Amino acid sequence: MESWLKVLVLVATLTLASGNEEASPAKLLVSKQILNKYLVEGMDIVIKYSFYNVGGTAALDVQLNDNTFGPQDFEVVGGQLKVSIDRIPPGANATHVAVIRPTRYGYFNFTSAEISYLSSEDAAEVQYALTSEPGQGAIVPFREFDRKFSPHMLDWVSFAVMSLPSLVLPFALWFSSKSKYEAIVGQKKEGKSS
Ligand SMILES: *[C@@H]1O[C@H](CO)[C@@H](O)[C@H](O)[C@H]1NC(C)=O
Ligand SMILES: *[C@@H]1O[C@H](CO)[C@@H](O)[C@H](O)[C@H]1NC(C)=O
Repeated sequence: MESWLKVLVLVATLTLASGNEEASPAKLLVSKQILNKYLVEGMDIVIKYSFYNVGGTAALDVQLNDNTFGPQDFEVVGGQLKVSIDRIPPGANATHVAVIRPTRYGYFNFTSAEISYLSSEDAAEVQYALTSEPGQGAIVPFREFDRKFSPHMLDWVSFAVMSLPSLVLPFALWFSSKSKYEAIVGQKKEGKSS
């Protein structure tokens, strides 16, 4: 995020410095982000591609091709890893989202997707560029995730979020009622056995 800002600042400075003799050709900054907090085997991962045209003219015939998710490791369950956008006006943004599902667990190096575009109406050459790379991530086995985030645990989290910003009070209440309950059960058991 910080380096992205640096790039933006740098580009903005360059644009100001070069004055406005002529509209600068289209230039696309493209980021590739993983929107999930947890990467889990067999569960959806949302990938977001954001295009930002920092040039002075529209970028045309924009093609994005992400061939970093091979069929041996991932299946595509929503959106596409190959997309074309006719036109991105100067200063405008475009986004694309794809959903993939890892078929195995382990470390995975999330690398750049490729993009190409024409930087103006009469551009003779196609521009090639890469998106940012999200970097390495650990895809956890489904069983491990399931154990940590069993429905009981998720209930607790949502209850805590809905009722109080602090986890401490509901936990204390739960704990005291649990110990009361256990005390009652204990007494009953004692009563029965005596
Ligand atoms: C496009 O995205 C950039 C970077 O996220 C942001 O600074 C800019 O304001 C956005 N422009 C528009 C028109 O939304
Ligand atoms: C991930 O891949 C990129 C590009 O191939 C490489 O530069 C980087 O060192 C790799 N990172 C890891 C942790 O393997």
